[in-house]
Amino acid sequence: MSVEGVTPRQNLLDYIRGVGLTGAKEGCAEGECGACTVVLVKQNGEGSEYRAVNSCLMLLAMAAGQEIYTVESLANCPAGAEAELHPVQQALVDHGGSQCGYCTPGFVMSLFAEYYRPGREGHCLIEAMGGNLCRCTGYRPIRDASLSLGRAPDDIFRQRLSQPAPPLTECTYADDEARFSRPASLAACQDEMRAYPTARFIAGGTDLVVEANLRGTRLPPLISLEAVPELQAWAETGDFVDIGAGLTLNEVAARWVDAPLAFREWLTLFASPPIRNRATLGGNLATASPIGDAAPLLLGLDAQLRLVGPAGQRVVSLAGFFAGYRKTILQPGEIIVSIRIPKPLPDFVRFYKVAKRKLDDISTVAACLALSLDSGGRVTKARFAYGGVAATPLRTYEAEQAVEGRRWSTSAARRAQEEISRALRPISDYRGSAEYRLALARSLVEKFAWETLEQAA
Ligand SMILES: Cc1cc2nc3c(=O)[nH]c(=O)nc-3n(C[C@H](O)[C@H](O)[C@H](O)COP(=O)(O)OP(=O)(O)OC[C@H]3O[C@@H](n4cnc5c(N)ncnc54)[C@H](O)[C@@H]3O)c2cc1C
Ligand code: FES
Ligand code: FES
Repeated sequence: MSVEGVTPRQNLLDYIRGVGLTGAKEGCAEGECGACTVVLVKQNGEGSEYRAVNSCLMLLAMAAGQEIYTVESLANCPAGAEAELHPVQQALVDHGGSQCGYCTPGFVMSLFAEYYRPGREGHCLIEAMGGNLCRCTGYRPIRDASLSLGRAPDDIFRQRLSQPAPPLTECTYADDEARFSRPASLAACQDEMRAYPTARFIAGGTDLVVEANLRGTRLPPLISLEAVPELQAWAETGDFVDIGAGLTLNEVAARWVDAPLAFREWLTLFASPPIRNRATLGGNLATASPIGDAAPLLLGLDAQLRLVGPAGQRVVSLAGFFAGYRKTILQPGEIIVSIRIPKPLPDFVRFYKVAKRKLDDISTVAACLALSLDSGGRVTKARFAYGGVAATPLRTYEAEQAVEGRRWSTSAARRAQEEISRALRPISDYRGSAEYRLALARSLVEKFAWETLEQAA
């Protein structure tokens, strides 16, 4: 499909609905409900895979050159014959998984991506629909539909996956009011930034586009980082893991096969599958949100950031990256290119997220607590990193120092808790009072101690 006469500000959902593909719906316009879900074809090894994404959080320009399936493309509708539903649609019908139907196209598309997931065995995982809300059917019939779906047949959708996905290429779209460019190199990003000094970088758009949708913010010129190879790179050696800042969270998970358990736990607690199919680590860190989940995890793992900007390249410690509430040390035009995690990883590392809901919610307090011990059980390195307890994500150095050099024990954990009480001054807001946040920060150390002491003995 070629598109003309559309402002680069328009989002993909509005566009597809405007051309009559009205299966996808707008429920929230902020990535929460999944009514707008469509499927992108993305590279997977030599072939490709389907990825469910929220079309309300993609600008149409971001879809340039990409292959996208909407719910309208699934049923087989031969001319003059009765339409034959796709097996995923049929399963939802058979199990009574739809009432008013508003959410149904979104569920269908998430389940469709799961149905054809390369390497899937057994039934479809219900977690694949973790980004879809239904207000009237109840989830049991939807779950039953998902559990009824076995191996996908060798149909056109499966055959499609043996071919590569279309590559992301550079492009520029502009009208009198908006501009979107997608350069294919770091140097070209810098050229764009010089030419449009008010521009902002955009990666997955799961923060920026929410801002535009909900607050009606007029977006400045946007420079997409999606086609820059350095941000999509992945390297692992005996000394470090180097993660391209523009890889989506699910891409990071697919590459980091021996990631610590804490990373896997962290991943499932981060938003929903469609958001994880677009959100990046670079975008999460650059927002400097005090309740962003990447910072505590990466602080606990001693991450460093490789930055490239007009003044060249520098490597900084993540611990020194946050300069204040929603502020970083990034200079104008500077890009987070990669996140480097040194090896060996700590002996014990856990990520905890306390939120009002267990899944798909924003943290009240998040913590990554990590320890390395010597053969005598003494702490050689401690990292107690938190989000949600101050204006920036932070490490509690005082608590770390209180346990380093000591045997890891309940009394060492208590010393750390006392230091945490002295060091942290959380604020109160509608997610939790200062007292509650402080109590959480302390009690997570106790939880960590209980979880690790037996293993450490
Ligand atoms: C429904 C929903 C649920 C969410 N749940 C969570 C959650 O559980 N935990 C959590 O932490 N966050 C959550 N978020 C927030 C968001 O998804 C993350 O912050 C995400 O990682 C942002 O990445 P992005 O690539 O989409 O950023 P974008 O929106 O593309 O960019 C965000 C900001 O970062 C800048 N930027 C992006 N990449 C770079 C780079 N490489 N270098 C320099 N600057 C850059 C942009 O200029 C922009 O200012 C949620 C968002 C939504 C909509
Ligand atoms: S409209 Fe709710 S997630 Fe897009
Ligand atoms: S069927 Fe009505 S919202 Fe899900």
